[in-house]
Amino acid sequence: MGRFRTERDSDYFKVVDDAINAYTWAAVVKLQERKVVEEVLGPVGQGKEAKLVLARRGDGTYAVLKIFYPVPVRFVKSRYSYLLGDPRFRGLKISDQLHLVETWCRKEFGNLSRAYSAGVRVPRPYGFYRNVLVMQFIGVGRNPAPLLAEVGLEGIDDVDHVFYEVVKNLEKTYVAAGLVHGDLSPFNVLYDGENPWFIDWGSAVRRGHPKELEYLRRDVERVLEFFGNPLPPHELFKRLVERGAWRGRVDVDEEGWLLVGGRRLLE
Ligand SMILES: Nc1ncnc2c1ncn2[C@@H]1O[C@H](COP(=O)(O)OP(=O)(O)OP(=O)(O)O)[C@@H](O)[C@H]1O
Ligand SMILES: [Mg+2]
Repeated sequence: MGRFRTERDSDYFKVVDDAINAYTWAAVVKLQERKVVEEVLGPVGQGKEAKLVLARRGDGTYAVLKIFYPVPVRFVKSRYSYLLGDPRFRGLKISDQLHLVETWCRKEFGNLSRAYSAGVRVPRPYGFYRNVLVMQFIGVGRNPAPLLAEVGLEGIDDVDHVFYEVVKNLEKTYVAAGLVHGDLSPFNVLYDGENPWFIDWGSAVRRGHPKELEYLRRDVERVLEFFGNPLPPHELFKRLVERGAWRGRVDVDEEGWLLVGGRRLLE
């Protein structure tokens, strides 16, 4: 049996605003019935396309609900081009906006799961329903980890370590997961005080997408720029593309670097 609405819930939904309409509310209840989350706690973040809400899971750990606004033409314009050209969505009839927002949510969940399975440091995906994606909460207590863009280079303890971790995860995304993030920048990387976490996977494309190299180059440029270009973007881009073309065995060494033909990306 479903969970009944309580006074506390209605208070909460006043706070969370119109991102939570009846359609979204039903999706959250479904995720509770499926035991993906147990209790919804309150908003923790806000993106252009989604609202982030903290929740608790049955085992007591936190999760976040990424609730995509079931809205707008703006969404259609900004996101449609990422779906076109993706073989998984060929033949998709985008006839209504709810369908589109659900497709976007499913795509982000699929990308996140693929990256997670390949060992990229990303929030663990827990599930999704309609326009609501559930994933591991990155933060301390109830406070979400800040973005790299918010902490800046000055706010990072060990810049070299974080730089190498970012590059390592960028390579795992491309070579091991077969994806290009497509929107990688200091605004989509969380910093937990030690390590970077790549988030916001909705724009990611599979290798073979017509814009693969364009997006990869842009991702490389944006992250290197944040670190003051310790190596030329073109050099890193070229090495990634070469390593992505490798058809032999790929291992992972004790520090988590991919070994392609026995060699690390950066020696
Ligand atoms: N797993 C997480 N744990 C903690 N905080 C998170 C998590 N995922 C996202 N956030 C927070 O929520 C914000 C928005 O998330 P995200 O970037 O995925 O949403 P978006 O709407 O797609 O973003 P954008 O504004 O870039 O379009 C992030 O900047 C971050 O502060
Ligand atoms: Mg974002």
